[in-house]
Amino acid sequence: MAHLDVVVADITTLAVDAIVNAANNSLLGGGGVDGAIHRAAGPELLEACRPLGGCDTGKAKITPGFNLPARYVIHTVGPVWQGGDDGEPQLLASCYRESLLLAEAHACASVAFPAISCGVYGYPLEAAVAVAVASVREQLPQCLSIERVSFVCFDEKVARCYEAALGA
Ligand code: AR6
Repeated sequence: MAHLDVVVADITTLAVDAIVNAANNSLLGGGGVDGAIHRAAGPELLEACRPLGGCDTGKAKITPGFNLPARYVIHTVGPVWQGGDDGEPQLLASCYRESLLLAEAHACASVAFPAISCGVYGYPLEAAVAVAVASVREQLPQCLSIERVSFVCFDEKVARCYEAALGA
């Protein structure tokens, strides 16, 4: 099975086959990691996103990476945390699953995920990390092209949380 690792970095700097964007339903940019990815990829990314017609929560769509070192950006839309009884875990798991399926369909060997929904969307970190790790582990046996999945953390606190989940 693919190797899973934890990286403390700005995801826009990573030379992997695909980085995943924690986007919103419009796919037309925003703040957080979404804003950073659009700034680093350049205006062509927005032009590539426009005709996609948005994206449902829990789904994913793919574009080229343009000026990024990554070949592709996979845009997925995490759930907004509403307390946990509104399907949030299933939707978050779906983000990871659908993103990996798209990466596999594009023959990607390396994929980097940010902590989807853990910023503005308010998903409690430990719960989100548990869903992320479980969903990726469940999906990887169906993704034969993928050799490495990185969980990219903006800070050490998030990284420690992933390391604990991966070690468990
Ligand atoms: N590299 C890696 N991780 C990052 C980066 C970066 N450059 N920047 C932020 N993070 P968020 P969400 C981390 O808010 O909760 C946008 O406006 C950040 O510390 O970016 O899914 C979209 O358009 C946090 O741990 O995404 C949506 O409207 C994680 O990435 C909304 O925010 C996710 O934080 C999506 O909210």
